[in-house]
Order: sequence, then C-alpha cells, then structure tokens
Amino acid sequence: MQQFELRRLSLAAGLTLSIVLTQNVFAASPAPAEGQNGMVVTAQHLASQVGVDVLKSGGNAVDAAVAVGYALAVVYPTAGNLGGGGFMTIRLKDGTTTFLDFRERAPLASTKTMYLDANGNPVPGASTEGYLAVGVPGSVAGMEMAREKYGTKPREDLLAPAIRLASEGFVLEPGDIASFADGNDMLAQDPAAAKIFLKDGKPLELGATLVQTDLAKSLTAISRGGADAFYKGETADLIVKASTANGGILAKEDFEQYKVRELEPVKCSYRGYDIVSSPPPSSGGLVICEILNVLEGYPISYLGYGSAETVRLMVEAMRHAFVDRNTALGDPDFVDNPVGKLTSKAYAEEIRARIDPYRAGVSEELKPAGFGESTETTHYSIIDKDGNAVAVTYTLNGSFGIGKVAEGSGILLNNEMDDFTMKPGVPNLYGLVQGEANAIEPRKSPLSSMSPTIVSKDGQPFMVIGSPGGSRIITITLEAIMNVVDHGMDLQEAIDAPRIHHQWLPDRVVMEPHALSPDTLRLLTGMGYKVGIDPDWSIWGEAAGILVGGKNLKQIEAGDGARYYGAIDSRATAGAAIGY
Ligand code: DON
Repeated sequence: MQQFELRRLSLAAGLTLSIVLTQNVFAASPAPAEGQNGMVVTAQHLASQVGVDVLKSGGNAVDAAVAVGYALAVVYPTAGNLGGGGFMTIRLKDGTTTFLDFRERAPLASTKTMYLDANGNPVPGASTEGYLAVGVPGSVAGMEMAREKYGTKPREDLLAPAIRLASEGFVLEPGDIASFADGNDMLAQDPAAAKIFLKDGKPLELGATLVQTDLAKSLTAISRGGADAFYKGETADLIVKASTANGGILAKEDFEQYKVRELEPVKCSYRGYDIVSSPPPSSGGLVICEILNVLEGYPISYLGYGSAETVRLMVEAMRHAFVDRNTALGDPDFVDNPVGKLTSKAYAEEIRARIDPYRAGVSEELKPAGFGESTETTHYSIIDKDGNAVAVTYTLNGSFGIGKVAEGSGILLNNEMDDFTMKPGVPNLYGLVQGEANAIEPRKSPLSSMSPTIVSKDGQPFMVIGSPGGSRIITITLEAIMNVVDHGMDLQEAIDAPRIHHQWLPDRVVMEPHALSPDTLRLLTGMGYKVGIDPDWSIWGEAAGILVGGKNLKQIEAGDGARYYGAIDSRATAGAAIGY
C-alpha cells in the first residue's frame, strides 16, 4: 500500500496539475479504542462493559456475545431484545466459521395476503403496528444455542449482569434519552409499555433510573430454565395472551416449535481479503459479495473516496445487486437461492460488461419479466484474547418494534413481519420493492438485510463489522470495508465517513449531508443520476467494528499497531468500544 499517491488533475483551462495526496483522505474522527486482550463494541456502553467483564473473567467471545445480547435487551430497548430476532456470525480461532439464524418466523396462522384489504390493497400500518405485525421471536433460542455450542460459561453467569441491570435499574444518560426520543409517543399508547418506559405518562428524564422488574423476572426464568422457560413456559403464555387479546395470531405452538438454524455463512473474497457474512434468510452477505465482486474489477483506491467515478461504479454495482436481492432471495427452506451465481466472479464480470461507462443505468430496465422509513436494529462486534470473533446483528425491526409490551413479561415485541413482501411491487418500511420469493408463508422468515460480517486475511481475523439501518445495512457494512481496504482510512474514520446508498428502486442515489461535493454532484447529475440528500441520521446506521493489528492498513502492514482496535459509529448516541 502506497502512503502517497501522485494524482494528475486536468483543470478546465487545459492545464494539468500534479499534486501529492496522502492516502488517508479522511481524518476528522477521534482515535479508535485500543486493546491487547479483547475488544467489545456495542451501541450501549453498559452492555459493552458487560462483554468486557465476561472476557476478563475467562469467557470467550461467544460467552461475551450472549451476555451482551441479554444486557442490550435491558439497556438498549429500542433494538436490544428478547422479543425479536437476529443473526450471529462466528469465526473461531482455528478459522472455522459458522452462522446462527435466530430470526423471527411467520406464525402458523399467517397467510400470504394477511395485510391486504378486500380489494387486495395493503392496510396501512397492519404489518408494522399492533400484534398482527409480530413474528415468532428467536433471540432467546439463538443466545442459548450459541452458549451451548460455542460458549464456555454457565447460563446463570451470562444472564446475571442483565438481571442485575433490569432489577436494580440503570441511570439514563444523554445517549439513552436520545434513543428513547423516537419511541416515547408510541410507548405512551400501550399501558404495559408506558408503566415501564414512562413516568406518569411523561418521558423519563436525564438521570432517572430505569428499573424493569417484569423483564428481570423473565430473564431470571431463562437463567433457571433455559430457552424452554421462554418458549414452553410462562413467558410464551404471556405473549400469546397479549397477542390474542389484541388482534394477533401468535399461538403457543408457534413458540413450542421455534428452531434456530445453524447455516453455512456466505463466503467470498475481495482483493485478497476473505469475507464471511450472513446467508439467506438474510440478503446481506450475498449482496455485499455481489457488489464487492463487481467493484474488484475497478481501481477503486486510485479513483478515490467520494469521487464521481467511484460513486457511480458503487451505485451501478448496488443497482444490480439489489435487483437480485429483491426479486430472487428468500428463506432457504422455501426458496432456492442462487447463492453460487451471486457470489461468482464470472457473474460479476457479466454485470461489469453491462455497466455504461458514460450514463447512469436505469433500474426499470433491470426489472425481471412478470415482476409485479425511524427504525432501529443493533449490531455488536466482539473479539477475545484467542482471536475468536463474533458479529451479531439483532432487532425488533422498527424502533421499539410494535412499541407494546406483553403484560407481565417486560418484553417489547417486534414488527418483523413488515420485512416480508405484503404485495409484490409495494414498498415496505425501508422502501424495498420485493417479489414472490419473499411472500408470507407459515414458519417462513422474512428476508433480512442484516449483515454481521467477519473479514480475515491470510487465515487471521482482520475486521469484524456490521450495522443497523434497514436496507442500508448492506451498503453501510460494504462502505466500512471499502474505506479500510480501498481508501486506507482508520477504523473510526471508515465507520464515520459520510455514506451513499442505492437499492435499485426507487431509482435514486441517497447520500448523507456532505458525502459528495457540489462538483461531484454536478458530474453525477450530468451522467443522469438522481441524487437526494437524506438528512435523517438515525437511518444511516450505527456501525460497530473491530480491526486487528492496527488502526488502519498502513499500521497493520508496518506491524507496529496494538493488537485490537474498536470503533462505535459517531452517529451512535450511547455506545462504546471498550478494549482491555
Ligand atoms: O432485518 C432487516 O433487514 C430489518 N428488519 C432491519 C431493521 C433495521 O435495521 C432498523 N434499523 N435501523
């Protein structure tokens, strides 16, 4: 990797200017956190500390991930959960990789048209508000399977910090207050939620202590009885009771037959780096691999971060990959996903051949024949002293899910059913226009974008990364990897750098404020791109990452870095990267 790069710029006057640019083009971020023995990066600082304590007491990265999963359900209720679902990507110190899918499944009584009215039109809010929007939760089964198969510590040890935080409470800091701001109105409408998350109907104030007695009871039941206490015991009964009383269709049988799937992760390589990420029922790993395979054919490092040329190549790769996502992918038990094709270098070459070098592509032209937005998720990244690495993304889908707590359980429930295609061609919460492969069927999981990813190089862990952000999860994760590998940024810079996104439909590029300069924008508009600024920072994700051996490539290659670097997105309000 060159430290300096000679660039030739042609000025309008015809004059050619040679300038020296440093490779580190973005240097406005704080330094990443450092650690020699382990690193935990989560969206809530108390949960990060729980993870570090587990590592310090001899637990491995999976033990820490399980304790963090339970702790975030207490201290980060906007997305941390027992009533939702998610994915865990694991890379063990010997290089073995695996993937746990504990995403929600559609209830047995669900039907393909359950969110449509008599005329076949979507009923507004039906798939996002109220108990009909709830998928069968998987988080507890997921955490328990992770612990049993890959952890080393007893269940009680890993649940104890969450139980303490719920029963004794924790003091709300500014970041916590900020993460509640979006949910207060919704939570106020549900008496069971309002009792816990508001005081006399008013938002909790800075410095207040949030105590969650019922949640502590539910966690204690899991600590004593394991996943069965949730799926076969009183907790399931409480959720089914609340669902039945409020127009939902969840039945005890849905809980009794919930199963975690252990799946082969999606694998691909990018410029010599090995990427391991989420397979279907997530689209994340496949779409990241497809985009990276296309971009590998271009000198992205030379073209530079944020240049019109780099951005247009990224957008075209995203456009093609999101068509595949939205039309072909679904739950692997129901759909034959073209995994081999989407990860193949030959397919990427076909896509490159279809990219017009001068003009913007047109999404409508890619539509297959017959093909008929505040939110929250959370990602955390962990590595231990032996190099075991874990990436977890889990969610209630929308911020606080449906915003309702099953009375007596303390548990907020998800609205993950909205990730299904409610009607081909009708956009969901994230504007995704999807097809039949993702239609609702009993026991099926809705297609996800969550992309917990682990990158390795020469057989050693290199980067652990992921983010919330709905459909943007994919491009946020992708851009963090590119910013490190192609643009030489340090980990914090790579995560903080302003982002762009395209998802096939709607056919427009969205960018964060300041992501592209006015002259870059003029070049892109001149080629036919429609570019819009989305100033809503909450949907641009709160990525959480770890880099091994240096804060950036230069330091890794020089071999003079600390062992681990961690960075929580500067967009995050309450998170922390803690190393030790
Ligand atoms: O699984 C998915 O793709 C979505 N349910 C994720 C939701 C999300 O990231 C919301 N956070 N910003």
